[in-house]
Amino acid sequence: MSKDNKTFYITTPIYYPSANLHIGHTYCTVMADVMARFKRATGHDVRFLTGTDEHGQKIQTIANEKGVSPQEYVDDVVKGIKELWETMEISYDDFIRTTEDRHKERVQKIFMQLYEKGDIYKGEYEGWYCTPCESFWTDSQLDENKGCPDCGRPVSKEKEEAYFFRLSKYSDRLLELLKDEKRNFLQPEARKNEMIAFIEQGLEDLSISRSSFDWGIPVPIDEKHVIYVWLDALSNYITALGYPDKDGELYDKYWPASFHLVGKEIVRFHTIIWPAMLMSMDIPLPEHVLGHGWLLIDGGKMSKSKGNVVDPVKLIERYGVDALKYFLLREYTFGQDGNYTSEIMLKRLNYDLANDLGNLVSRTVSMIDKYCGGVVPKVGVGTDTFALELRDIALSRAEKVEEEMDNFKFNNALEEIWILVRRANKYIDETMPWVLAKDEANKSKLDEVMRNLAEALRVISVLLYPFMHTTSSEMRKQLGLSEDINWEDAKSFDMIGGEQVQKGEPIFPRLDIDKELEDMEKMKAESQDSSEESVDLELKDEIQFDDFAKVDLRVGTILEAEKHPKADKLLVFQVQLGTEKRQIISGVADIYKPEDLVNKKVIVVANLAPRKLRGLESKGMILFADNIVDGKETLELVTTNADDGNAVM
Ligand code: ME8
Repeated sequence: MSKDNKTFYITTPIYYPSANLHIGHTYCTVMADVMARFKRATGHDVRFLTGTDEHGQKIQTIANEKGVSPQEYVDDVVKGIKELWETMEISYDDFIRTTEDRHKERVQKIFMQLYEKGDIYKGEYEGWYCTPCESFWTDSQLDENKGCPDCGRPVSKEKEEAYFFRLSKYSDRLLELLKDEKRNFLQPEARKNEMIAFIEQGLEDLSISRSSFDWGIPVPIDEKHVIYVWLDALSNYITALGYPDKDGELYDKYWPASFHLVGKEIVRFHTIIWPAMLMSMDIPLPEHVLGHGWLLIDGGKMSKSKGNVVDPVKLIERYGVDALKYFLLREYTFGQDGNYTSEIMLKRLNYDLANDLGNLVSRTVSMIDKYCGGVVPKVGVGTDTFALELRDIALSRAEKVEEEMDNFKFNNALEEIWILVRRANKYIDETMPWVLAKDEANKSKLDEVMRNLAEALRVISVLLYPFMHTTSSEMRKQLGLSEDINWEDAKSFDMIGGEQVQKGEPIFPRLDIDKELEDMEKMKAESQDSSEESVDLELKDEIQFDDFAKVDLRVGTILEAEKHPKADKLLVFQVQLGTEKRQIISGVADIYKPEDLVNKKVIVVANLAPRKLRGLESKGMILFADNIVDGKETLELVTTNADDGNAVM
């Protein structure tokens, strides 16, 4: 709990604006947002911070490659990140950018504070240096051939003058912190043991400056150096509160943070370096660091460079913000990795949202309309066992949700709410209102059933508010309730009666999963096509010989070519490849007329996994090369004079 039990300060990592964010970042930010909303709903004074980590060599290199200044580059990406959070309705109170003056000035003051404490000294940083990339790497960062992890080229041991932070000095206090059972500084438990083992192996002092690039905050005592990433980045959690400025009102109110929410790969920085820095500054440590798991695709981490990222914007456009939030929080268990597939997501949306919740809302509102003239009957709960069971389940939900949320168990908290959703659906089956309605003698019983269903839905709308506030409001609108939500109202089963219901659209329409999956494939193909079309002529990342050797190139002859019946940008080719005839689809309809390509001898990537593009299978890929003609980017068909379909590799 927070220092005065009422303030609650929660943070996400500040993300690198090195590319657009994907659904993994969204997952972390949604968890923090829902927790912030839940704490606000339960009476806390909440501060929710997110932001971007904008310095460092990687950003400088990308900006150079794009021919813009690092600041221009990050401004552009950060704009997109802020737009994403706006679309996702993320309720942050502050968004800190490490390139803002308020942050830079305060980080320099923090540097001086550590320096004056005697915890910073000048030394020599020794590491593996890659000359073309101008980057230092540690042993563990090198690739499997002991080469540069970015470009694979050989690296050499080099020394560079650098400032160091005396991390080793804090080993004992850090161990004490992590081992303190009651303090529960780091969750989940498994991560704690990893960190303890890491410290016990012996901590080295931390290099905190670089002189090999300059996109960073200058070291105040030495202009040749910039402050190296982690000191700069971690400090955001306090610079955003005004620390160490004298009038740090926010700092006084909200520090120490209640929770730093971070992905498991950066737990180490948050539970070793960050507390050591704070110990050196003599200021309180955050109450808890929570390491969450990763969303995986086919068992591997999502990453832009692997090209397997899932774009949250596409999902929101199709299914809505609340559906995405629900899925992320319901499907995955905090602290554990979880696999992402479109099918898993669609099933969740259909079973839980359309079938369970959506149906309950539309059935209840329709029945109140039909049997009660659209007005929720003003009657009591009644005395039959079904009604009392429904009431008891409803009354116990808020406390259960609170318990689960206190442990960041979002999925269990939602499950607790769904116990009521399912119980209310069962109540309809048990009481069979359509049978009651046949006999006027049952009117008071029917009224009771309708009132109890409306009351259950009212409770659900309150409980859902922190998780899906738009859905909650829509439910309340259909029930004729005001939008004012008070968490404590979820603890009563005696509030509804007399409201005029308003039938509306289904809150979550049922999805045809097969059709959705097919459409998603199309969307993926189209976005690949359009990204192929918009290739700028920068070189993609260097690949290794072994990567290239996996590609099986063959000569083929285009026998037929026609437009794809369902996609303007795609051409469908029938290609003779040795003795085999194959269908291959390419996104070149904007550039080539199908008739011009018939009889061309082309090079085909013969072992590319088949995929469906707008309903037609494409098996392989015809090679086109990037080119610029008259200042415009285009694609050139790679042709050959070979006689037949012999292998060329
Ligand atoms: O590490 N699954 O920034 P970053 C779940 N700037 N979460 C994921 C994820 C995935 N596949 N991919 C990313 C940095 N995340 C530093 C942080 S903090 C002082 C500095 C989330 O852009 C997860 O929370 O690489 C992870 O820790 C964070 O994004 C990393 O973001």
